[in-house]
Order: sequence, then structure tokens, then C-alpha cells
Amino acid sequence: MSTTSETPVLSVRGLKTHFHLREGLIKAVDGVDLDVRRGKTLCVVGESGSGKSMMARSVLQIVTPPGRVVDGSMMFSRDGGGSVDIAALDPTGKEIRAIRGRDIAMIFQEPMNSLSPVHTVGDQLVEKILLHHKIGTKAAIERTVEALDRVGIPDPRRRLAAYPFELSGGMRQRVMIAMALACRPAMLIADEPTTALDVTTQANILELMRTLQDETGMAVMFITHDLGVVAEIADEVAVMYLGQVVERGSVEDIFYEPQHPYTLALLASIPKLGARHSTGKRLTAIEGMVPHPLNRPTGCPFNTRCPEAVAGLCDRADPALKELRPNHFGACHLRDPQHIKSRNPVEAGV
Ligand SMILES: Nc1ncnc2c1ncn2[C@@H]1O[C@H](COP(=O)(O)OP(=O)(O)O)[C@@H](O)[C@H]1O
Ligand SMILES: [Mg+2]
Repeated sequence: MSTTSETPVLSVRGLKTHFHLREGLIKAVDGVDLDVRRGKTLCVVGESGSGKSMMARSVLQIVTPPGRVVDGSMMFSRDGGGSVDIAALDPTGKEIRAIRGRDIAMIFQEPMNSLSPVHTVGDQLVEKILLHHKIGTKAAIERTVEALDRVGIPDPRRRLAAYPFELSGGMRQRVMIAMALACRPAMLIADEPTTALDVTTQANILELMRTLQDETGMAVMFITHDLGVVAEIADEVAVMYLGQVVERGSVEDIFYEPQHPYTLALLASIPKLGARHSTGKRLTAIEGMVPHPLNRPTGCPFNTRCPEAVAGLCDRADPALKELRPNHFGACHLRDPQHIKSRNPVEAGV
């Protein structure tokens, strides 16, 4: 069942994306490790400001200046084709422009940001297909109709002439998915694509993405802060906090054997069914606030909010992401096997 032996479509190691501002250095992404596999969905979770979007934008080299990828590697492997380190590519060069849209597609929370308001849906899709494929306009139009039909847009031929503002939010999101998938990318990055939609539309869109993924074997990186969505669609999960991946593993490991105190806190914040009615209390939120990016704590980034933090240990060194159990990684001093051994030599059998 495990596919971990296969080369990931995308393998990110030590990725750092920083913003040099007059006020100081913002480490939006500060040492991210993760893999996205063929036919699988990696969900990236974490509170707002944890660097999820900047990490995703780094993969396409579309970080807005003064933000810049300053370190790390992003190995992208095409099916049957060689691999390329995206981190080493010129953000404005030919190579990354060919990868964007054709090999790796991205969809965003607000489709209006990626659809042009002044061009029809048909024109935008046709143009995108012509840009990446050597086919005639007529064939491109047929492919566009097919793509719109595929994402469940009724009467697609007529919709070619529609402008984005004439469509509902759910329909616009479908157009964006059609656009992203028109070139059959090896990987799709979806940054909170359903957050602005109602529950029913969200469920339809998720279902649609899963069907298309099953058909094409595309790898998906799905960014969300909704753990309900994670439970539904993830094969693997990466938990981010202050620009770092603090835990990653299979969806089962993350939900049933969470290791990092931050993951535990995130899981505890999920509203329990009916709990609000029975207790009248508000939903549990994680204690404290995410530190301002210019005031990163020393030591473990989570130590200032961690209920288990040990003074003199957690506020000193930043823990490395280590394999705590097979294919399950965590960055926590207290979960580090070496630390456990030194504290409990008898229990650890030393
Ligand atoms: N243009 C920018 N200039 C400076 N800092 C930025 C900019 N964009 C994002 N950041 C900072 O990068 C960090 C990560 O942001 P982001 O990736 O958007 O988080 P998320 O998507 O997890 O909510 C935040 O601390 C944010 O303030
Ligand atoms: Mg974001």
C-alpha cells in the first residue's frame, strides 16, 4: 500500500523564503521539508501566518519581492522525464515559466484573482491551452468545452462567452479548476480553494478534484486550515508553524498518533459535534497568539505557547525535524528519542 519508495513528484528540503524589510527580516518560510507523491494528496495545515501560502508560491517561484527563496532545494520529477531543482531556477526564466501552468498548476482561494475580469472564460482557457500546446485554435476551443464540461459546468459551449463576474462563486472556482487542469499537470497546488464557498459547493469541488486526481494520477498539495477537509482528502499531512514543518506523516499518524504539541493543540481545537449546544461555550482556540514574524521566539518556535515547554531546553535550541516513528516526522525536543532516553534511562531500556 505504501508508495514511499517511489520518487516523489516534488521533494522540498530546507526551503527558506525570506523578506528583507526595513523593519527587519521576515522568515516567512524557514526550513521546510516535505514530499508530494504521484496520485496522492498532501494536506498542509497550520494557523494563518504559518507560511503555507509563501511555501506554495515558492514552489512556483512566484513570491512577491522583496520576498525571495534564499535556501533549500525543490526537486521536481516529471513522469518519465528528468528532474529539476526549482529552487535553482531564475524566477523570470524560461524554464520555470514552462513548468508553471503546464507541469504544476495552482488554484487560489479567490478565483477572481487568477481570472481576468475583462476576458471571457472561453478566451482565457483557449489562450492557456494554446500557450502550452501545439494545436490549432479550433482544437483548443474543443478542448476548452471538454474541460468545462468535465468540471460540471452546464451548457459549456454557451459559457465560453461568459465573463467571470457573470458566474457564481462555485462556478468561478470550477472554471479555475478547469483552467488549472486543462494542461494535465503532474501536480496541482490548491491554496485554500474552497474556503470562500458554502459547504455543499465545497463538497462538490472536493469530490470533483478527487475524481480528476484518480483519473490522471496527479499529485496534489492542498493547503487548508480546515481539519475536517484534511480528514476527508489527505493521504499525508504536513503541519506548519512559523515557517517550519513541525510534524508530517500519514493522515492516520497525524490524527491518531499526533506527536507534536502544536498538532495536539490543533486537533483539540476541532469543534466536537454538538459540543457548542451542550456547553454553551465557544469553540476551543489554541492558547495565545501566533508570535509576530519579526519577533520569532528563540528555540522551538512553538515554545511560547506550548503547554509542555521545558525552560532551558525548549527556549534554547530549535529542534530538528526527526523521524520519530517510521515515515512519521516531528520537530520537538521532548519527543526526540535521545531526549527520552536521557531522561528515563530505565524505561528506555538503557
Ligand atoms: N509581502 C509580504 N511582505 C512581508 N511579509 C510577508 C508578505 N507576505 C507574507 N508575509 C509574511 O509571511 C508569513 C507567512 O505568510 P503566509 O504564507 O501568507 O501564511 P499562511 O498562508 O500560512 O497564512 C507571515 O508572517 C506574513 O506576515
Ligand atoms: Mg495563506
